[in-house]
Amino acid sequence: MEVLQAASQLEAEGKKVLHMEIGQPGAPVPAQVRSAAQSLLDTGKMAYTPAKGLPELQQAIAKHYSEHYGVEVPLERVMVTTGSSAGFNLAFLAGFEPGDRVALTSPGYPAYRNILKALGLEAVEIEVGPETRWALTGEMVAKVHKKTPLKGVLVASPANPTGTMMTPEALKELSQTCEANGIWFISDEIYHGLAFGQQEETALKFSDKAIIVNSFSKYYCMTGWRIGWMILPEELVRPVERLAQSLYISAPHLSQVAAVAAFSATQEYEQIKAGYGRNRQLLLERLPQIGFDRLLPVDGAFYVYASTTAFAKDSFEFCKGMLQEAHVATTPGIDFDLQRGHEYLRFSFAGPEADMALAMEKLEDWLNR
Ligand SMILES: Cc1ncc(COP(=O)(O)O)c(C=O)c1O
Repeated sequence: MEVLQAASQLEAEGKKVLHMEIGQPGAPVPAQVRSAAQSLLDTGKMAYTPAKGLPELQQAIAKHYSEHYGVEVPLERVMVTTGSSAGFNLAFLAGFEPGDRVALTSPGYPAYRNILKALGLEAVEIEVGPETRWALTGEMVAKVHKKTPLKGVLVASPANPTGTMMTPEALKELSQTCEANGIWFISDEIYHGLAFGQQEETALKFSDKAIIVNSFSKYYCMTGWRIGWMILPEELVRPVERLAQSLYISAPHLSQVAAVAAFSATQEYEQIKAGYGRNRQLLLERLPQIGFDRLLPVDGAFYVYASTTAFAKDSFEFCKGMLQEAHVATTPGIDFDLQRGHEYLRFSFAGPEADMALAMEKLEDWLNR
């Protein structure tokens, strides 16, 4: 947030800032998604929907699982949410009691630990590194669980900030270890659709007990629409539905109608993804040339997590300097990893291609200043 604030300050002074800090797509939503929303808007009739979502959206989501993953999902297990953020809250409230321990990766998406803490749950951050492609393994979880029992494990693949993915085998092993130990396995699949060469698999394929959290925010470019979904194990369907009824009644009607249309805009979304692919290629070429020689594997999402130790002791100060002097905004690692984050920064390549190329030039000049 401090980086964003400093970037806004520079922009207010008339400077052009190249944004590589923002974890959201720069592209607008496809026209057919907007026109679906417009048609409903024109009727002026927006109302509460069932807490689990419009039946046509539930159906579209179930169809997506059948077509994309070859997994048949009963409609009653599909829950529409206000983004994956609501999905985490619902999963945590339905699955856990205060004081329960939930394992996360470090580095990882900071909101997980913040939400857990706010709900009186204990975030158990487990350090991951290159040995396991920056992912949790069943063995790591079993070891922690044996010492002090865990009630949940939450992972994302592709992950934020690392951009790394678990192989289908790794996901299978972890989800099945959790199921065997009576631990809820929560799979954040928000960056699905944005894999670059690696095979992407849903945890649902390996465990009927897995809680799947997903969203229209990333691949579907709908961050501001606040719309996402969950696929729930049978025993959590009613508890989650009742929580949602009381917490927010339903996801926005308008966003749900737009989300149905999003599933038919595959061609447009694939074009947007091809743009990320080109940005990714550019960064993979240019970053090592300008001195970022330790990058994590860029499997998916739109992030490059890079070591900054060749340049500075503290990536926070480094990012600040980069923003002030080169006008390139990036995210220091400290929010994602309290222990080792000062050695990393995250580049997001979700922005326009021209900006990425310019940012690389500016960075090169700045580093050679
Ligand atoms: C890994 C991960 N999960 C979840 C979210 C939240 O997304 P939303 O609530 O928009 O679905 C983000 C946002 O950046 C994220 O990076």
